[in-house]
Amino acid sequence: MIDFKALSNKYGTPLYVYDFNKISEQYDALKKAFSGRKSLISYAVKANSNLSVISHLAKLGSGADCVSIGEVKRALLAGIPKYKIIFSGVGKRDDEIEEALKEDILLLNLESEAEMERVEMIAAKLGKEARISIRVNPNIDPKTHPYISTGLHENKFGVDLETAKRMYVKAHNSNHLDPVGIHFHIGSQLTELDPIKEAAGIVADLVRSLKAIKIDIKFFDVGGGLGIVYDDETTIEPYDYAQAIFSTLYGLDLTIICEPGRFMVGNSGYFLSKVLYEKVNEGKRFVIVDGAMNDLLRPSLYNAYHKVEVVGKEGNESEADIVGPVCESGDFFAKSRMLPPTEHNDLVVVYSAGAYGFVMASNYNTRPRPAEVAILDGKDHCIRQRETFEDLIKLETMCL
Ligand code: LLP
Repeated sequence: MIDFKALSNKYGTPLYVYDFNKISEQYDALKKAFSGRKSLISYAVKANSNLSVISHLAKLGSGADCVSIGEVKRALLAGIPKYKIIFSGVGKRDDEIEEALKEDILLLNLESEAEMERVEMIAAKLGKEARISIRVNPNIDPKTHPYISTGLHENKFGVDLETAKRMYVKAHNSNHLDPVGIHFHIGSQLTELDPIKEAAGIVADLVRSLKAIKIDIKFFDVGGGLGIVYDDETTIEPYDYAQAIFSTLYGLDLTIICEPGRFMVGNSGYFLSKVLYEKVNEGKRFVIVDGAMNDLLRPSLYNAYHKVEVVGKEGNESEADIVGPVCESGDFFAKSRMLPPTEHNDLVVVYSAGAYGFVMASNYNTRPRPAEVAILDGKDHCIRQRETFEDLIKLETMCL
């Protein structure tokens, strides 16, 4: 049991708290599920890029899936070996490509023919052969929130099967490209296995047809996307996930790469804020807390559900919205929830805030971003200090 009260007194609020032992459990469960084949779990750094989170996963053996050179640098700094680092993303700048090639990471994941041309040119300039994989868009509906659905042709991600094939032939014939991998990722917070299995089947067929023309793929990257429980969702068991993927790979000797973000860190995180006061507008009850949408954006951006709890309070519940002080009607953590009466300084815990929480925070309304605390084996460690006003203005100059 985490003592949220003690942590909020020690570190202040708003505050992020991560249970590192829970992260270990998630990693181990997934690694075990894939143990029947060669596999690499490459943590999607975007979900929570705190250096201590990455370094904790590095110690467990994880690789990293990165979407900017900044994330690649974080992964290297946190101790992920370069041969376990992937650089993905729909648009990479030339300097990012160059740096990734110089770092000699495992592979660059490409999403268009135009991008492949740039990578080939830059690799030629450096006298290198770039290891690449191509993101295939299998045109599958993942049945998740439209903002986090990526596997349909109407999304900006990846290339269609025909284009992918053409790109593989071109890469195979290039002196500066080595097409070692294939990739797909159909969406995030996936709770249904069938779309994943269908996508894996389509991509595995492409691998077989490439093999027939002597293009030998080594890495089969199934993306991330495994959903977690926020409310009462039925989620996919790691074992069933792995088995579904294995079932599509008959006759192929591949290393499976998996890029989970949310699954690894989502349920291990808590967002703590304190009640400032309550108010009632025409019969509608609001609990106003010191955390806001700039700290945790998911409810505002996706209307995402997060479980909330007022620590140590129960009974006499009535419906209320939990809202922050930011000047936007969209600034809320929970809507129409049954909550006990609250008082100044009561502690509100928002659950499942470990993924896409702090990383999506901003300084909107000149609000310093929260501190982050890790709990490992019952001990708390500050892994990022709370920002100060000075931090917020230090890059600005009053020159006019
Ligand atoms: N691989 C690729 C290529 C991705 O685009 C993503 C997530 C992942 C892996 C990791 O997905 P995960 O295992 O975490 O589902 N901000 C949104 C989620 C955006 C996900 C973007 N891509 C949210 O708060 O729900």
